[in-house]
Amino acid sequence: MKKVITYGTFDLLHWGHIRLLEHARQLGDHLTVVLSTDEFNQSKGKQAFHNYEQRKYLLEAIKHVDLVIPETNWDQKITDIQTNQIDIFVMGNDWEGQFDFLSDYCEVCYLMRTKNISTTYIKQQLAGSVQA
Ligand code: CTP
Repeated sequence: MKKVITYGTFDLLHWGHIRLLEHARQLGDHLTVVLSTDEFNQSKGKQAFHNYEQRKYLLEAIKHVDLVIPETNWDQKITDIQTNQIDIFVMGNDWEGQFDFLSDYCEVCYLMRTKNISTTYIKQQLAGSVQA
């Protein structure tokens, strides 16, 4: 069985996320999503609208996702790959080149990011539409 892994916050789930998950899953037979915890996001100065349990609940309802585990720090990737016997590490191409060092442990693949949608964009659009 070919196992794939990917990382992210996946807040305010949108079609760009779904496409990434769909394409990642198509590269193998099993997809693990390593989901940033609220504490990890806080350490990066990031605040998700949905909390970790809510984001996990949404991801687990998606047919392309087989397993969701927590991401609590920047340095867990090698351990995750080894512990979960991962064959392919996948990220969107906004991260191009940044995880090439993982190729000592598994295949590294950057997928084309979907244009014109992001969590940040949704937040900005909604903030702009709120009446004062
Ligand atoms: N992603 C994608 N296409 C998009 C948005 C995200 O392929 N339009 C991918 C990212 O490259 C990453 C994964 O989805 O591999 C999770 O990204 P995340 O940062 O959680 O989503 P964003 O919408 O980019 O969130 P933000 O605006 O907060 O950065």
